[in-house]
Amino acid sequence: MSEEEVELEARLAEQDEFEPPASFVEQANVSDPGLYEEFGENWPECWEHAADLLEWSDGYDQVLDDSNPPFYEWFTGGELNASANCVDRHLDERGDEVAIEWVGELGETRTYTYEDLHEEVNAFAASLRDLGVEEDDVVTMYMPMVPELPIAMLACARIGAPHSVVFAGFSADALATRMNGADSEFLVTCDGYYRRGEPLEHKSKSDEGVSGVDHDVTSVVVDRLGDDYDHPTIEGDHDYDSLVADHAGETVEPVPRDAEDMLFLMYTSGTTGQPKGVKHTTGGYLSWAAWTSQAVLDVKPEDTYWCSADIGWITGHSYIVYGPLALGTTTVMYEGTPDYPDKDRLWEIIDDYDVTQLYTAPTAIRSFMKWGKEYPEKHDLSSLRLLGTVGEPINPRAWKWYYKHIGGEDCPVVDTWWQTETGGMMVTTLPGVGNMKPGSAGPPLPGLDVQIVDTKGEQVEAGRAGYLTVQKPWPGMLRTLYKNDERFIEEYWAEYSDTDSDDPDDWVYFPEDGAKIDDDGYITVLGRVDDVINVSGHRLGTMEIESAIVGVEGVAEAAVVGGTHDIKGEAVYAYVITEDGYEGDDDMRERIVAGVEDAIGPIARPEQVVFTEELPKTRSGKIMRRLLEDIANGEELGNTSTLRNPDVVTEIERKVKGD
Ligand code: PRX
Repeated sequence: MSEEEVELEARLAEQDEFEPPASFVEQANVSDPGLYEEFGENWPECWEHAADLLEWSDGYDQVLDDSNPPFYEWFTGGELNASANCVDRHLDERGDEVAIEWVGELGETRTYTYEDLHEEVNAFAASLRDLGVEEDDVVTMYMPMVPELPIAMLACARIGAPHSVVFAGFSADALATRMNGADSEFLVTCDGYYRRGEPLEHKSKSDEGVSGVDHDVTSVVVDRLGDDYDHPTIEGDHDYDSLVADHAGETVEPVPRDAEDMLFLMYTSGTTGQPKGVKHTTGGYLSWAAWTSQAVLDVKPEDTYWCSADIGWITGHSYIVYGPLALGTTTVMYEGTPDYPDKDRLWEIIDDYDVTQLYTAPTAIRSFMKWGKEYPEKHDLSSLRLLGTVGEPINPRAWKWYYKHIGGEDCPVVDTWWQTETGGMMVTTLPGVGNMKPGSAGPPLPGLDVQIVDTKGEQVEAGRAGYLTVQKPWPGMLRTLYKNDERFIEEYWAEYSDTDSDDPDDWVYFPEDGAKIDDDGYITVLGRVDDVINVSGHRLGTMEIESAIVGVEGVAEAAVVGGTHDIKGEAVYAYVITEDGYEGDDDMRERIVAGVEDAIGPIARPEQVVFTEELPKTRSGKIMRRLLEDIANGEELGNTSTLRNPDVVTEIERKVKGD
């Protein structure tokens, strides 16, 4: 390193607050600090700013209907169509501009202008109708990052059929559970996709999932692998390309949807073994995705914006598809992994397409750091104007690396805290307004009332850890859990509100995250306080993994915890007791890993499986996960005095260390 560079490193290492670059502020969509006060004083009408970003076929009567908490309703009486908002309304001015820039794993590219997108969305909407999809039918999608995925989502939105996208890496069982849960009779899937240049078969996993669905399913199959793989359709399957060709040139009038009508369902992990079907609506969700894309990601129509998430998760829904397309910009979709064919793949794409914003996850940034700055240095990244992160806390070192080596110290970094249920960003700096503090997400967005409270619902002092709560509703919030209002109330409300109040007016939204707030209102998110772990920014329920392990022949009991991991953030650690007559050997370990992959998918694969005679339990029989976490993290063990069987932890610790 040159002397200058050494100095720079030292300065960065010490600096804990960064001003947004003046060049960014000058052009930012939002640069007025007065917005916080204005929104605070003018709540909830302030959210008309978000609704105004959309085109409504019928104007709404009321911004917020809070007559039946916690079932809040937004923009009531209004009508709109999400597909018309993301496609049709851009045709006049931006029909020839690029809507989706798709980069395939093999280096192939596809470019869809808004005109192209309009054509294919219409043809597929007509196809879906033809197959019998009616308004309010849930259509499941089980596909990787191919353009047909957002096209199918927008086609569903066009005809008022909510979609439920299941991450392609999830297992057949996971698909079946979600299709059964949503009573979904339609599936859009594909033959396979590429990983590291090799074709990866997907259809048989999809078929196996369908065989676990307890009603008939109509499937449409996208041919992604072309000649590399025999395109397998089983009897009754429909081929995507033939459908679209048959309906080419047809137009389908966008169905006006009530603002509160469901736009989509997204399953996510919770404390119990059963995934939760989070319901998002057309008016509130879409306006939230659009407003946050504009205010936080600074998206402008002329941008080439890239979010490197997978559409199978909420980040991809809000910030690859709905937010950017609602604003009429160009959204980049990349099918592959960041290190194939080489570790500069992302930087190459940014250079090739003059990408203006990059929104990614801390886990990816940690990998980039590990690979080294020589990879970004090979490319011209000067087109970048803003960087963002999401999914898990980012440590200051990774933040600074991203800021310096990707942003060239010239781009604000937004660390955005939110979750599947919130629909879009909640806590982050506004890049054209606030200073950035690495490690801290920032203040709540204007118009949001976020407080850190103790178990009694009282605000905790600055700097002390507490529970993050959202005290007032917001347009992008989930409306309920699909067909389970009771669980919706139980999981998210009534806890840590005004103690023990039965009055729903007193309830606040509880996202199950711990956090602390500084004197200046900046929030640092500390992580989940429920039994959910965050592996590479993906949310997994420990109970879901435990029930998969207990399903393996010969397993008597299992406990799963998250242990810290350099790249993934957290990794899955499983502690397993075998039944009499079964050995905790390599064969058993393999069967456990396979069992988890079958029930959930490879993302939930345990990093370590430890066989033990007993699990640490309190006298009342509750597993002490905290101790297991300490063991996984190689930390000093916490208090073991309340254990029924204190010796067991030393025994487990010994096994983990391999003594
Ligand atoms: O624990 C928080 C963490 O991810 C959880 C939400 O996961 P999911 O619903 O899958 O959505 C991920 C993408 C929005 C949160 O409850 N989380 C998300 N963003 C951050 C975060 N933790 C710290 N900092 C963040 N910026």
